[in-house]
Amino acid sequence: MKTETWCVDNTVELSTDNPHIIEAANLLKRGEVVAFPTETVYGLGANALSERAVEKIFVAKGRPSDNPLIVHIGSKEQLQDLVQSVTPHAHKLIEQFWPGPLTLVLPKKAAVAHNVTAGLESVAIRMPNHPVALTLLKAANVPIAAPSANLSGKPSPTEAKHVYADLAGKIAGILDGGVTGVGLESTVVDCTTELPIILRPGGVTKEQLEEAVDCEVLVDKALQHDVHIAPRSPGMKYVHYAPDAPLQIVEGDLAFIQAIVNDARKAGKRVGVLTTTEQVNKYEADAVLACGERKNLTSVAQQLFATLRSFNTYDLDVIFSESFPREGIGEAIMNRLTKAAGGHVIKY
Ligand code: TXA
Ligand code: MG
Repeated sequence: MKTETWCVDNTVELSTDNPHIIEAANLLKRGEVVAFPTETVYGLGANALSERAVEKIFVAKGRPSDNPLIVHIGSKEQLQDLVQSVTPHAHKLIEQFWPGPLTLVLPKKAAVAHNVTAGLESVAIRMPNHPVALTLLKAANVPIAAPSANLSGKPSPTEAKHVYADLAGKIAGILDGGVTGVGLESTVVDCTTELPIILRPGGVTKEQLEEAVDCEVLVDKALQHDVHIAPRSPGMKYVHYAPDAPLQIVEGDLAFIQAIVNDARKAGKRVGVLTTTEQVNKYEADAVLACGERKNLTSVAQQLFATLRSFNTYDLDVIFSESFPREGIGEAIMNRLTKAAGGHVIKY
């Protein structure tokens, strides 16, 4: 299959008359799969009401069929066609954060294709805050199921070229809207329970959620590093975001990390270090890459996945990553890093 790439200039006002948007929307309406930018990461979209269209997402990504997808909507009104009910907490979250990087899990209606939810009675929904995504959703005029547009297990794509590298030849097209904003996927919150539960940390933090609902927001126990508990969000159990070389997180200062790097190099290994601009010139290794600025964790989130992908060009045997404080967006950064490292953490 030839994969079209359409560059969309989103510095100008976009409308549903844009020829690239029309072409992508028509492909979606015909049951094809198209990648598009959101404010978090690129998504791989298909008509969420068509089981056949959705099946193509699972095939293109090599995604396990028990891992449900997020349904994207272009207006809040579309929600009522997809869910049985919206709880008062969910209402408040929608008012506060949509469009934006927040996904809500709610009881589903039958119209949602069975494979979107991997057979669950609930469906995950969000309204993205990106002009290309919103215009495409409006033009397609159907809800769009979309996981991140990477091969299963790889870092999520924050640029169209990442999507192309993973999925060229497997999907109908890619709308290129430049680099995404947040850089990490949306926060997923289960709203089917009495108190909301965070299933995946992301762009919207626990503190922001609690302020909006004015009650305690729980965190899925499986996120608290207990590997023996099955996560409520099926996707959280898979290895994810991994660069080619094995990654290990190191909790410790520069001297400690450098000593670990030196030992590995003495053992004949080619070693990478993931750090930030503050310390990028201070390490001695085979590849030292800066992922944003430590004093600005938002920039670390924005660049994390692209940096993990960049390591693949250095033919490394092992990568050591600095650790980040688990506060605000740092929670989501450490969640993704820990997954990329398969849980390997070296402590001082
Ligand atoms: O920012 C994002 O959320 C991006 C962009 C493209 O919107 N999408 C994304 O989708 O990250 P994906 O498929 O890579 O992650 C979806 C997550 C998975 O962890 C999945 O298990 C969870 O949402 N999920 C989906 N439906 C669910 C449900 N009904 N109950 C619990 N978790 C669900
Ligand atoms: Mg994903």
